[in-house]
Amino acid sequence: MAPDEPERWWHAIELPDGSVTDAWWDFRPLVPKLPWPDLRGKRCVDIGTADGFWAFELERRGAADVVAIDRPSYFQSLCRARFEEAQTKLGSRVRYEECDLYELDGEFDFAFMGYVLQVVADPLGALEAVRRVSRELLLLDTVSLPLSLLPAPLARLDARRDGGEWFVFNPRGLRKAVETAGWNVEAQTRVLADKRGLDWKHRVGVRGRACAILATA
Ligand SMILES: C[S@@+](CC[C@H](N)C(=O)[O-])C[C@H]1O[C@@H](n2cnc3c(N)ncnc32)[C@H](O)[C@@H]1O
Repeated sequence: MAPDEPERWWHAIELPDGSVTDAWWDFRPLVPKLPWPDLRGKRCVDIGTADGFWAFELERRGAADVVAIDRPSYFQSLCRARFEEAQTKLGSRVRYEECDLYELDGEFDFAFMGYVLQVVADPLGALEAVRRVSRELLLLDTVSLPLSLLPAPLARLDARRDGGEWFVFNPRGLRKAVETAGWNVEAQTRVLADKRGLDWKHRVGVRGRACAILATA
């Protein structure tokens, strides 16, 4: 995937006219596999929202208030325009704020953070920053399937030059990172396939594998 790719949307989003945006990522099949708490009436934040798929999902699940945040960048500016287009078409009340997660302020009942941990250089600091402002966290992130075969909490330092990924954990490592940052893990999914039918790397699980953790502060 190319973070600065302008034509395609980042997220496949179903619009009220029945169309679905042409996108790099279709997370609709992943939604029922995540350990969602009851979000009705809750104040929620979607961290690193991109086009807003997860923020709209939080709203759909009955959140009282949803803030979608993303760190200012060229990629984010492209995504924001698409977020606003989808927001208008969906008649959504999600609020958008340009903000770095390390400077996140306020008080939330629930934070969603999808595929953000892998793109920050300091993942433990990021998890601590979210714990300062939210009571609950649903973390979804890429995991390494090969490293999951080893019985230890591990991370691979990927450090791609394009800033695409820094650390990629195995599921035990992801859990340990969450706990080290002071969270209590309530649930963790098995390894989930988040992209199918591409090259051999996705088919054998060297790429395209994720894991979700629900945690309380
Ligand atoms: C791989 S994309 C994931 C987008 C979306 N959450 C998803 O699940 O598809 C990573 C997102 O995190 C954002 N991001 C990266 N570092 C951030 C930071 N320090 N604070 C807030 N957002 C950040 C990026 O701008 C981008 O939108």
